[in-house]
Amino acid sequence: MNDLAKRVEELTHILNEANYNYYVNDNPTITDQEYDKYLRELINIETEHPELMKPNSPTNRVGGEVIDKFNKIVHARPMLSLANVFNEDEIRDFDAKIKKEGFNPEYVCEYKIDGLSVALIYEHGELVRGVTRGDGVTGEDITHNVKTIKSIPLTLPRPIDIEVRGEIFMNKITLKKLNEQREKDGQPLLQNVRNAAAGSIRQLDSRVTAKRELDNFIYYLPEPEKYGIKTHLEALEFMKSLGFKVNPANRLVSDITGILDFIDEITEKRNKLPYEIDGVVIKVNNIAMQEKLGYTAKYPKWATAYKFPAEEVLTKLTDIIFTVGRTGRVTPNAVLEPVIVMGSTIRRATLHNEDYVLSKHLMIGDTVAIRKAGDVIPEVVEAKFERRTGKEIPFQMIHECPMCHSKLEKIAGQADYYCKNPECPKRNIESIIHYVSRDAMNIEGLGDEIVEELYNLGFVKSITDLYSLEDKKKAIMEFDGYGEKSLNKIIENIENSKNNSLERLLYGLGIKEIGTKTAKLLASEFSTMDMLIGATREELESIRDIGSITAKSVVEYFATHKDLIEELKHIGINMTYKGRIAGTNEIVTDKKFVITGTITGWGRNEIKDKLESFNAKVSGSVSKNTDIVIVGANPGSKYQDALNLGITIWDEAKTLEVLNNLQ
Ligand code: IVH
Repeated sequence: MNDLAKRVEELTHILNEANYNYYVNDNPTITDQEYDKYLRELINIETEHPELMKPNSPTNRVGGEVIDKFNKIVHARPMLSLANVFNEDEIRDFDAKIKKEGFNPEYVCEYKIDGLSVALIYEHGELVRGVTRGDGVTGEDITHNVKTIKSIPLTLPRPIDIEVRGEIFMNKITLKKLNEQREKDGQPLLQNVRNAAAGSIRQLDSRVTAKRELDNFIYYLPEPEKYGIKTHLEALEFMKSLGFKVNPANRLVSDITGILDFIDEITEKRNKLPYEIDGVVIKVNNIAMQEKLGYTAKYPKWATAYKFPAEEVLTKLTDIIFTVGRTGRVTPNAVLEPVIVMGSTIRRATLHNEDYVLSKHLMIGDTVAIRKAGDVIPEVVEAKFERRTGKEIPFQMIHECPMCHSKLEKIAGQADYYCKNPECPKRNIESIIHYVSRDAMNIEGLGDEIVEELYNLGFVKSITDLYSLEDKKKAIMEFDGYGEKSLNKIIENIENSKNNSLERLLYGLGIKEIGTKTAKLLASEFSTMDMLIGATREELESIRDIGSITAKSVVEYFATHKDLIEELKHIGINMTYKGRIAGTNEIVTDKKFVITGTITGWGRNEIKDKLESFNAKVSGSVSKNTDIVIVGANPGSKYQDALNLGITIWDEAKTLEVLNNLQ
């Protein structure tokens, strides 16, 4: 190795050590000036000789890599969420359930960090991938941004293959500084640390992320058995020894009293922490016990999250305004004097309907208590009657649509008022917004405001108008804020969405009673739009999970929207279900399965269909080519065959965990 290469290695090492001591150990070992001096020297050499740059070079940390889209990555093991408990009784129930299974566990208590979870994958000790949780099964590749987080090691002290998981977050003070700057620059403020962290990590340009000074704690090792690890505490120690930042506050406790003490202590000093936490995570320490307790579709049964009580704040109800949704439903909304609750600024809260407002006896001008818990939508809890001055104005429900002024209608016995005018501009705008939304046709770049503006300017009056934007491009560009590049991108996204699988269209049409789940069910049952349109109410009702109200709504919709469907067909929108190949999944795709015995809640064919839709093979007998044998209750001789041949066996818990996460 020549001298220069040696120097690069040396500088890389010194700077990485310094980073580790500063950002992970909170114990600086060199001065900022020294650090900058070494960093400049390294940058100079790397600029002259890019071939000498090490993959773990600290210069990665300043960002530079720009990607054009986030690639999707299927997690090797699903990234599960946690069930919540809200009080002492529910913590006791959690513990009692585990005891009922015959265990007497020790627990590890951890802070529940308010950020977003990440999976970090290392190969031969090098960080190769950082992935968001996404929907738990598939996440997004954020490697370029993860590398800018200085408390995440780029190289481990040993050349091992390992995946660890943890939380990326933004410190409170960082958010404060960032918002001060944004205010000066006239940019909208970031609402809370979680949104700020999520927005910062979802940047295409890693230089932006690098400036956001994100941090992380690692709290989960998905495959402890690979490293001979028997307890969660050992896993935490192990990850710490590899250079990961593990929260020093984590504590092993032997019983409920220990858990409650931990919660009491942190409730006291929570506000003094440099980062935001929204609760305490309680995990069974023993890994064998964890495995025996198993998982539900969404959560491990061996862990739970205690959430701090929702914070209540007083503010003024300055007005009650009315919004119209795509179905015509008119909703009263509280306009509030802006107030910060749980780190978010609250300006509005839904008041649902007339009855809700009357039941709370709200008056405009009232002082009201606002509550918000975590992600939960803010709510108006009550009016403080003792603060009334006599100047408050009584609430009055409107009887005309605030948009088109047609008379509102109310179904007897129901609380909601509806605008029934199919030409109501607000209803139409909301329908288009729904059609392009993420769970529907998922057309990126067409935000609510753009849709509304394009509607008001007369360019997009209905969903079918979306498909002729190309012809109107020149005219649209006459208006402020529409560049050719961004319009081209929108048009390209609209074009691509024509290939969506049928369920997206079904959901996007906004048929009453059809949510994403039902849309998927209908698409998979009928495969094509024509088959679905041809279905009778009886045929629809014969499908599990489709009730008579839904069946009626579907039949009525298609009876009255024949022209629209024809037009969409003519435009070239896909009208078939593509879900037969639902996707790929690392644990299932290309694997050969055999099933024996019964699995609760799943028929044999259902399991087969599901696995096959992820391109797995399911065969009738076990051979040495079989990858996995699913063994349910009362298995046959195939179970013994699997044991004899040493083939991987999935029990019911494991099978359910995987099946429920294949979406
Ligand atoms: S453990 C299988 N530990 O909370 C166990 N999660 O509400 C996986 N979170 O998705 C999670 N702090 O993003 C765990 N100390 C902690 C955590 C934590 C924050 C987040 C995580 C998870 C969410 C569930």
